[in-house]
Amino acid sequence: MAVYEQWLAHRRLSLEEGRQTSLEQIGRVFKKDVFPSLRHLTIYEIIRVAPARVEVIGGTAVAVIRRFDRTDDGGRIPYVSAATMLQSGGRDATHAYTELVDVLLQSGADPIADIHELWRRLVFNFLVCNTDDHLRNTGFLYDARQRGWRLSPAFDLNPMPGDRRESKTWLTEDTGVIDSRDMLMAAASYFRLDAAQAQAIWSEVAQAVAGWRAVARGLGMCGTDLLDFEPAFVESTTP
Ligand SMILES: Nc1ncnc2c1ncn2[C@@H]1O[C@H](COP(=O)(O)OP(=O)(O)O)[C@@H](O)[C@H]1O
Ligand SMILES: [Mg+2]
Repeated sequence: MAVYEQWLAHRRLSLEEGRQTSLEQIGRVFKKDVFPSLRHLTIYEIIRVAPARVEVIGGTAVAVIRRFDRTDDGGRIPYVSAATMLQSGGRDATHAYTELVDVLLQSGADPIADIHELWRRLVFNFLVCNTDDHLRNTGFLYDARQRGWRLSPAFDLNPMPGDRRESKTWLTEDTGVIDSRDMLMAAASYFRLDAAQAQAIWSEVAQAVAGWRAVARGLGMCGTDLLDFEPAFVESTTP
């Protein structure tokens, strides 16, 4: 609430008072639609569920997210996690992203595009300090027309407040966990990227991530919330 008040005071500087003005509408929308659905969520939970509708069911906040494994008419699109794909039983088993590259090369519907996308996601995870990248947080959807697997849309991407930048899943079977830019760059060829392509992807992702503060502020974060997350994003501001 304090965050909202501060943000509203800031908006007041640029918007005029009066009926049917944006300022008045902001107040109405927040009072009628936003506050009743957010209730007692913390700022961290609000950000986590921002792209979804939040419903409070039996006192518990529930994020309602559009499923990617259903067709528009409700049919099922087959989905398997990377853990299932690699026949890994638990979270503790050690596997590498290059094993997923092999899966895509063997049974992908559009392997090179998805392998490039996979590397892009590794860069993103590294730059936002998303270290919860276990094998159940990557998945594949079956493309029946092409008779092959596609990387599913990304999900469960959370910056960790801190700077312990270490992936859960290994990069290659030789290198171990991802903990540096150099390591990702050195492995780019496994992901069918030459140095220039890898650098281009890196720059794009870094540029997008460097705008994190504006996005966070837009979501109502400020003060210590921003400070807590600063170390997670700090890498993205260095070239
Ligand atoms: N948009 C989605 N459509 C279909 N299945 C999803 C979607 N998002 C996540 N899932 C599935 O639900 C599981 C749990 O979601 P996730 O976002 O990883 O939450 P959690 O924080 O509980 O791990 C995922 O491992 C994935 O299998
Ligand atoms: Mg998950």
